[in-house]
Parts: sequence; C-alpha cells; structure tokens
Amino acid sequence: RTLDDAKDLAGKTALVRVDFNVPMENGKVTDDTRLRVAVPTIQRLRDAGAKVVLLAHFDRPKGQRVPSMSLKPVVEPLENVLGAPVRFADDCIGGPAVEAIRDLDPGGVLLLENVRFHAAEEANDPVFAEKLADLGDLYVNDAFSAAHRAHASTEGVAHHIPAYAGESMRRELEALDAALGNPQKPVLGIVGGSKVSTKLDLLKNLVGKLDRLAIGGGMANTFLYAQGVDIGGSLAEKDMADTARDILAEAETKGCEILLPIDVVVATEVKPGAETRTVLAREEIGDEEKILDAGPLTVEKLLKAMALSKTLIWNGPLGVFEVPPFDAATVKAAVAAADLARSGALVAVAGGGDTVAALNHAGVADDMTFVSTAGGAFLEWMEGKALPGVEALRA
Ligand code: 3PG
Repeated sequence: RTLDDAKDLAGKTALVRVDFNVPMENGKVTDDTRLRVAVPTIQRLRDAGAKVVLLAHFDRPKGQRVPSMSLKPVVEPLENVLGAPVRFADDCIGGPAVEAIRDLDPGGVLLLENVRFHAAEEANDPVFAEKLADLGDLYVNDAFSAAHRAHASTEGVAHHIPAYAGESMRRELEALDAALGNPQKPVLGIVGGSKVSTKLDLLKNLVGKLDRLAIGGGMANTFLYAQGVDIGGSLAEKDMADTARDILAEAETKGCEILLPIDVVVATEVKPGAETRTVLAREEIGDEEKILDAGPLTVEKLLKAMALSKTLIWNGPLGVFEVPPFDAATVKAAVAAADLARSGALVAVAGGGDTVAALNHAGVADDMTFVSTAGGAFLEWMEGKALPGVEALRA
C-alpha cells in the first residue's frame, strides 16, 4: 500500500520512518542526500494536513543514550531542504514525544530522537512497537535503506496501525523491480568490490537471473586465481577458489555469461599517480605487482555488453577508484552507462555503499535511471532476500 491508498489525512498524525543515518563529522551533516530523499513524502503529508512525526535511527548506540549519536544535528539541514521548521523531541516514546505531538499543528513536522537509544528497537519488542504505534494514526515507511532490519520502527509498528510505503520507498521498489524483478532483457550485471565472501549469496542469486555478469574489483582476482591465473601480489581470497569455481559452473548451467578481466592495470604501490603497467590478465604479472584496475580491452568488452543490454544492475567499483589512475575503468564504464541511460537505450540501476561514491566520482550519478540510497538493504535485495520492512507493508 502506498500513500495513494491513505485517505482523509487532515488532522491525523503520520508516523514516518525515514533513514537519516547520514554521514556526519563533528556534529555536522556532510551529505544531505538521505534528507532530500525524504522530502516528497513529508511534503505530501503536510499538504494533506497531517502532523508529520519522523522516526529514525542514527549509527549504532546499542540501546544506550549516546550523546554523539543524537539526531538533533539533523534538524537544521532538514529544515533547509524542506524549507519549513522542524521541531525535535528528545525521546521517541513517552512524555517528550506525546507532548511534542500534541503541540504540533497540522502540517507541522517533528523529528523524534534516535529510536536506537532504546534496546527494544533492535529487539523488535512488540510492547515498544505498540508504544510507537500509539503515537500516530498511520505509519509510513519511507526508509528502503533500513528495510532489511526487522526492528520495531521498521517492521513491528506496521502491525499495529495502517501502514503505507512512502514516496521514496515506492520509487526504490519500482526501480528495483525494473532492474531485477521484471526487467527488460537482456540484463547485464556489474559486480565489483573487494571480497567474494561478502557477496557470495548475491553472486549466486544473480547468475540465475542475468544474461551477463561482469565481475570486477578485488573479487575478480579471486576468480582469476581460481582459473589458474598467476595474479602476482594481488589481493585475493585464495580460500574462496572452490566457491568461485562453483559460481562459474553454476553460471554456465544457467546460461549466464561471465565477463572477467581480460587485461588489467598493475602497480607495486597503491598511491595516486603510481607507475602502472597494463598487461593481459593471463600473462606476465610480477610477484610484487598488484592488480588495481581493469584494463582497456576489458572495458571495451564491457561497453559492448552494455550496448547489447536493455537493463543494467550495478554494484561495486571495477578498480581502486578512490586512487587515480585506478579509477579509469570504473569512470569509463559509468560514463558509458549514463550515456545509454540518458538516451533511453538502457535502464541503469545502481546501488550499495561504494557504488554511489564511484558514480559521484565519475560525475554521472544523476544520469543513471535510478541510484539507490541503500547500502546493506540493496545488497540483501540483490541476494534475493525478502526485506522485513517491505514485507510488513504487504500484510
Ligand atoms: C544504512 O545506513 O545502511 C541503514 O541506515 C542501516 O544502518 P545499520 O546497518 O546500522 O542497520
């Protein structure tokens, strides 16, 4: 159920779960993306005359009231992106919350203190969930990026009052469905990042769903090693070689073409402007040399695969993009994907931690069809797992 199903909101209190787990340094929000993402839902509820009460977590205080993990520093940047005043209550249940909600005018916005200051939040304690639910008339979950957590404010509360998906949640689910649930074929995946071990379930799920899968970043080294390539001094999880071979075999059975680096950029040091060599992956990598990026032949092959595809799902960089020149493959691939997305030839969906940073680095995050603000939730969704926060909205 979405906000289209929520009727007669004037004067009602909407409890809105947002994800304000934003980057913060010395009490200042350094990236307001997640605040901006919450605006359409907040604005829609305000326009409908509802009192908007925001529930959110920040960091991992483990049930303690940790002052440095207060949500208070979010108030001012939120007011800036919203263009409206935001009140703050220094607890998410009990007297402070109840009084602040009572004093709020219809159309007003109130942010409640970090729900994780109560251990009952992460325990998904039903009594705590009910106390939260008692604060409002309806619940709106707009935090896709926290939907992989079965916590009181992301899951439990939905069982007590009418529950709806907010605008950002709805957009995320639609984009993810267009990428993997019900995509236009052929579908290409790009999975990068450093470790196979953290993306095992994801790779296993993807080979059953995609037409082609390009593997990049450090995890490609493990696959090359598993194929008997001498990867020199490159980082790899050598104990994952059997698993990597199993994934390759599974891909073959399922008809998913795996693209591994054909050529690579190597250097003995990971530092800006390091002296590099571009070599064929199956030849001549020295003992001291590390694979730090995909080479131009690999990128060319990837770009051809992109041109053959109608849908792209991307998670993880192709090289050590934070340290130029090892950003070259990631940047070229990102620019190509963005060009195709802009022309309407490709539905390009990206998400998960480093991916957004890599696309921002390439300057094309805004040109992709959709970039998820989620980290862990995006990965769990790519693994094919049901997300408790989403499931609770279906009930
Ligand atoms: C995130 O930032 O990915 C979400 O807010 C979830 O945070 P968590 O990993 O602390 O549950």
